Amino acid sequence: DRGRDLEGRRVLVTAGGTREPLDPVRFIGNRSSGRQGVALAEAARDRGASVTLIAAHLEVPPPTGVTVLRVETTAELLTATSAEAPLHDLTIMAAAVADYRPVGVADGKIKKAATGERLTLELVQNPDILATISAEPRTGRLIVGFAAETAASPEELLELGRAKIARKGSDYLVLNTVGWTTGFATADNSVTVLDASGDIVLEASGSKTSVADDILGVFAAALTGAP
Ligand code: C5P
Repeated sequence: DRGRDLEGRRVLVTAGGTREPLDPVRFIGNRSSGRQGVALAEAARDRGASVTLIAAHLEVPPPTGVTVLRVETTAELLTATSAEAPLHDLTIMAAAVADYRPVGVADGKIKKAATGERLTLELVQNPDILATISAEPRTGRLIVGFAAETAASPEELLELGRAKIARKGSDYLVLNTVGWTTGFATADNSVTVLDASGDIVLEASGSKTSVADDILGVFAAALTGAP
């Protein structure tokens, strides 16, 4: 029985997909449903943690019994996460963050009549939130990243994951494959958790609820210093 092994702990989860506005009515977004992040927030709450959920665009309702902070863009997610992460023992970055945003946002609707046959959008890279918060000095708190990859094989997935955690500097990385029919927007998930040295500490699959619970078991143990 895992019981309430996160009692007295503060857990921050980011979930959903960020949206980058093009004009007052349009945005660039992604297919993240926020289900895995919401499942993590629920599982942490059920283990007794005090939970903050930073919610970008979600296709599911946020859970009850957690503090919800709404954001839209990557810039807003960065501001909220930078402020909240230092106040939490465990930060899990499950949000699907837009890597690029439009250079400028049009004041009014972009009109076909004014733009013509072709429209070129200029995009600029967004800051990497996970790398930013992981680079700040911390003791006794953990930062976890997610990586959704369209890898062709388990070997390629592992290779991508090991390079990614080294680059990002988080304490753990939860790896999963995504595609048109797997990962995003589905009820089930299959994940591999890597530690900071790139070693596999957990492989789990099943419903996003059971995967969330298995994943939290690793971090709850790490926070208490249990093997
Ligand atoms: O998109 P990428 O594979 O780099 O995402 C890996 C991790 O980094 C995820 O946890 C995601 O939330 C985070 N990320 C971020 N800021 C970005 C891009 C991704 O924090 N600009």
